[in-house]
Amino acid sequence: MKVLLLGCNGQVGWELQRSLAPLGELTALDHDSAEHVADFSRPEAVAETVRRLRPDVIVNAAAHTAVDKAESEEAFARTLNATTPAAIASVAHELGALMVHYSTDYVFDGSGARPWLESDAPGPLSVYGHTKLDGERQVAQQCPNHLIFRTSWVYAARGGNFAKTMLRLARERERLTVIDDQFGAPTGAELLADVTAHAVRATLADRAKAGLYHVVASGETHWHGYARFVLQQAEAAGLSLKASSERVDAVPTSAFPTPARRPHNSRLNTDKFQRTFGLVLPPWQAGVARMLRETL
Ligand SMILES: NC(=O)c1ccc[n+]([C@@H]2O[C@H](COP(=O)([O-])OP(=O)(O)OC[C@H]3O[C@@H](n4cnc5c(N)ncnc54)[C@H](OP(=O)(O)O)[C@@H]3O)[C@@H](O)[C@H]2O)c1
Repeated sequence: MKVLLLGCNGQVGWELQRSLAPLGELTALDHDSAEHVADFSRPEAVAETVRRLRPDVIVNAAAHTAVDKAESEEAFARTLNATTPAAIASVAHELGALMVHYSTDYVFDGSGARPWLESDAPGPLSVYGHTKLDGERQVAQQCPNHLIFRTSWVYAARGGNFAKTMLRLARERERLTVIDDQFGAPTGAELLADVTAHAVRATLADRAKAGLYHVVASGETHWHGYARFVLQQAEAAGLSLKASSERVDAVPTSAFPTPARRPHNSRLNTDKFQRTFGLVLPPWQAGVARMLRETL
């Protein structure tokens, strides 16, 4: 079986290189790959790459993820998040391949406090959210044999992340100020990659499992709770911090104005995913604690 991974150097893409490898012959490409065009600013060229490689499974982890920047470069964000995924999905359908694509909690307007279901009406607040919604809809339309995973608050051990930023700030400053009115679940790229591989195998065996799923770690927090958890873990590991976990002040989103509006309620209901694939999504604290043990 041939597996094609696009966006292989992103947070999720990097972990997918590991988790997809046992499924078959893996080709992993990023936008500057030399041998095959995988630059998402060139939809037709990427579609041609897919046509030439003839994969059985295509996993797209590439995206325009700079949420604030997207507000001022909508056309570019749309090409990366919707036009190119749609072009890939069209070829996937021609080839009879399974297409895996990732989407986001930002497709919702963040109202209420109930975890969003896959069947709830979207209402993006930002350019990023609009382009991701457009992308998931086009992928689903072009390639019925798809898995689309909406996730949230992704972190990885590799590269920068919220937890590492909090640790740096806590070493430099006496107090931290963090938002406490956006709710969601920090979700590890490792977890997403692992459950993707399981879901791919299950869907190859039973096409009826294809569809749209919410996939996040279980439980919920806000950024303030997340920051305090990170500092508590650091304290328990004996790290010396200027700002202890008790010195994190909670503020509303309005205290940090950004170009893109973000949803207050990013809770995603994952029952459909867990039931369909017989998988358990562990508590968010387990993944964050593990990532910190690796990086501290
Ligand atoms: N990060 C989050 O909190 C979050 C939340 C919800 C959903 N998601 C979704 O989850 C998926 C994976 O996100 P992630 O966190 O792994 O994102 P990421 O770390 O930003 O990775 C995105 C990947 O896309 C690549 N890329 C950027 N421009 C490209 C182009 N022109 N052509 C080809 N590739 C290009 C990046 O390459 P370079 O790094 O080399 O530029 C990178 O490998 C995305 O669909 C994202 O929308 C993410």
